[in-house]
Amino acid sequence: MLTCQKELFSLPEEVTYLNNAYMAPSLKSVSEAGLQGIHQKNTPYVISPQDFFAPTETLREDYAHIINATNPQQIVTVPSISYGIANAAQNIDFQAGDEILLIDEQFPSNYYIWERLAREQQLTIKTITPPTTLENRGQLWNESILEAINAKTKVVSMGQVHWADGTKFDLMRIRQKTRMVDALLILDGTQSVGALPFDVQVIQPDALICAAYKWLMGPYSIGLAYYGEYFNQGKPIEESWMNRYNSEDFANLVNYQDAYQPGALRYEVGEHSNFILIPMLSAAIRQINEWGVENIQEYCRRLTTPFIEQLQKLGCWVEDEAYRGAHLFGVRLPEGVDVTEVKNTFAQEKIYVSVRGNAVRIATHLYNDEKDWQKLLNCFEQVLTSKTA
Ligand SMILES: Cc1ncc(COP(=O)(O)O)c(C=O)c1O
Repeated sequence: MLTCQKELFSLPEEVTYLNNAYMAPSLKSVSEAGLQGIHQKNTPYVISPQDFFAPTETLREDYAHIINATNPQQIVTVPSISYGIANAAQNIDFQAGDEILLIDEQFPSNYYIWERLAREQQLTIKTITPPTTLENRGQLWNESILEAINAKTKVVSMGQVHWADGTKFDLMRIRQKTRMVDALLILDGTQSVGALPFDVQVIQPDALICAAYKWLMGPYSIGLAYYGEYFNQGKPIEESWMNRYNSEDFANLVNYQDAYQPGALRYEVGEHSNFILIPMLSAAIRQINEWGVENIQEYCRRLTTPFIEQLQKLGCWVEDEAYRGAHLFGVRLPEGVDVTEVKNTFAQEKIYVSVRGNAVRIATHLYNDEKDWQKLLNCFEQVLTSKTA
């Protein structure tokens, strides 16, 4: 059973950071790996051709373990979600009239590319909205998604959880339904993978793209994309020399090659051997593997459960456990309570969360403990009891 891991981070004692969904704080080991990467370039003469490839290969293997992928060559590094999704979206063989199914208010990097393709190729975007009432909200939203998948659906592109309020989607059933109608499933795992178990062999998505700077505990401007076999013959959005067959042989680079590296490696971002970001992300992924994703989720559950009960007693609404993760969820305030008041109290107490509409998005990790959560609860109590007194 994991205990609080705050000593592995550099968070100041007076800060209560409950905003991992915005950006994870760096592990000390991740910062150290970045500094070593900077220093490595002081001596370029010791950087060998092998150093351009081997660190990414190790990263792929370590990440494959997190998502339970059998072939690391289906995994590439990407600079962003928009990049990773574009590689998938532009390799789908659409026919006019096909439907693209998206979730209401999903992150823009998983929207704009579909909107453009829909305009260019006469496709229809179908956006699945949540129910207007809070009772059984997660369950009903999931049912609407399942109902909306039909013979016209060419692709469903969504998250494992909703980025703004943490609603968890039933990917098993969604995958089953997409299979029945021969639709692709593209996933943005940015707000879940690394903290909520995800199994590529169970869900079998056609793509799973994750930015690394949140739940993968990595640096900014790098992410990891898994592409299924559907994309193995596709056209990458750029033509990096490194992604061509035998690019490891630096002496022969201008013997231009038609063939790509195997699997999905054609989609690897140009200059993927980033000597700073790759070691940083590798250090992060190693640490997550050491902790175990299930243990991270279990720690968050153990930590948050009693406080969620207290919040509910204060009249706040939190999604049913079956339809949210324990690492990221929204807390809706009782009617009539102004969210700015809560926001101001948090600011005074140096509590960092995100506010979305009338809901507070809380995102917790192994660096948080009961003290953090008690402080958060005290603030809610202070505002809410003054309203109802
Ligand atoms: C669900 C989700 N996807 C993607 C991103 C980031 O996208 P990009 O890497 O394209 O900047 C975020 C950032 O908050 C996010 O929450």
